Amino acid sequence: MTKTSNKRDLLSIMDLSVADVEEIYTHAFALKEKHDARIATPVLAGCTLAMIFEKASLRTRSTFEIGIAQLGGNSIDLSNLNIGMGTRESVEDIARNLDRWCDLIMFRTFSRDRAEVVAREATAPVMNALTDEEHPCQALSDYMALMTILGTRDLSGFPIAFVGDGNNVCHSLMCLAAIMGMDFRAATPSTYEPGAEFLTWSMGVARSTGAKILVTNDPVEAVRGARAVYTDIWASMGQEHEHAERERVFRPYQVNTDLMAQAEPGAFAMHDLPARRGEEITNEVIDGKTSIVYDQAEHRLHAQKGIMVWLAEKAGVHAYSKDEG
Ligand code: CP
Ligand code: NVA
Repeated sequence: MTKTSNKRDLLSIMDLSVADVEEIYTHAFALKEKHDARIATPVLAGCTLAMIFEKASLRTRSTFEIGIAQLGGNSIDLSNLNIGMGTRESVEDIARNLDRWCDLIMFRTFSRDRAEVVAREATAPVMNALTDEEHPCQALSDYMALMTILGTRDLSGFPIAFVGDGNNVCHSLMCLAAIMGMDFRAATPSTYEPGAEFLTWSMGVARSTGAKILVTNDPVEAVRGARAVYTDIWASMGQEHEHAERERVFRPYQVNTDLMAQAEPGAFAMHDLPARRGEEITNEVIDGKTSIVYDQAEHRLHAQKGIMVWLAEKAGVHAYSKDEG
């Protein structure tokens, strides 16, 4: 593959500027419009996406595979059981091999260090499809779903509360809210607040975008006036052994009808899924009239197509043309 010095990766929302986010959404909405009209968009015809999963997935695996196919490309699904990342072969060597065959690499892993190694070693753009620290594709998809539902691309000032664990999903939502000038509140138990690095970064960006960022231990303070209430599982992948303890600590942070009643009337209920119904969210809320969880899942497809096309464009990756010779 042709080496390019201009390639970008999407390892973190903190990699993105306001202009970058606008460009991604411009691609994503243009592709969605064609998708909805059932017009094919083979802008990455012949291109290959490598997908590396070191953790389970339904939505991410499906939407990246469907997404690259809809762009005219193809994908290979590499689970760590087969490729033995860091055991059978070094992370560096895997990245260098994949780089010779693939145009884009998607990586779901535990520590961001591994994703950084792959991004450093590959000339192909690398996308973070969830690490312990972040889930940038999720946040970009979730806010795109809100834009579609609200009929505007301007989410500045939009009040959204994240209630639960200050985890990977919370980090990416908070950082993207800062870029987009939103009114973001996180309510978590003490010691489960979002990481200082993400909070400091978001506060810094908020100074120039006008975003508001609040972190509190009081769920009612966070949801008061919120037009969307978001939650995620209390024990993320890799934390299963902490489940019993977390269930006890997080119980007052359950998103249920009582908590939703404290938000703006008609506030959207949001969740990245998979959900543990009856723990972080009740059936009444997730199945309720204002739940948009499946819209969020749908927008994984549209937003990630936008991300792939944006990254491909930056790296000079484009569709294969027909050999007319
Ligand atoms: N929300 C999300 O990333 O779902 P999966 O873990 O199923 O990919
Ligand atoms: N916080 C969750 C998100 C799953 C999509 C996890 O990391 O398991």
